[in-house]
Amino acid sequence: MTSTHIQAPSELATTSEIAAGVAQFLSPVVRDLEALVVNGKQAHWHVRGGSFVGVHETLDQVVEHAQDYADTAAERVVALGLPLDSRIQTVAAQSTLPTLPDGFQSWQDTCATVVGQIDAALVTVRAAVNGLDDIDLSSQDVAIEIERGLTKDRWFLQAHLAS
Ligand SMILES: [Fe+2]
Repeated sequence: MTSTHIQAPSELATTSEIAAGVAQFLSPVVRDLEALVVNGKQAHWHVRGGSFVGVHETLDQVVEHAQDYADTAAERVVALGLPLDSRIQTVAAQSTLPTLPDGFQSWQDTCATVVGQIDAALVTVRAAVNGLDDIDLSSQDVAIEIERGLTKDRWFLQAHLAS
């Protein structure tokens, strides 16, 4: 009779290799989430129109959650002993989020635009979920939690546009 054996990460790679792999996948997640924090606030300040209050307040939740997710992902990297680069210049240069239009925006455009921002971040987060599967399950769990939360925030925004 054979039994299923789940390999612990320590059996697959050295600690330093695990840390490097985790940093490789979670650092881009942190940078995209920090970009979402900045752009989410920009959208929060500039939304206008009939659904102003709902969208304005939802965007503050998006920003608050994104900052919490970034903190969790960044501290996982640092807890494993490696630094990461989330300086503002690095975030601006390497974030995958599309450029946000400047100036005041209708609530409809704001919702669609920020959903697009979240979608870009979700591509990075889902790459981390997949990539971390063979590297470190605790770090993959961090990415999975972020994926679940971002998807929920996306729903809260997208629901404003649904007919
Ligand atoms: Fe505010």
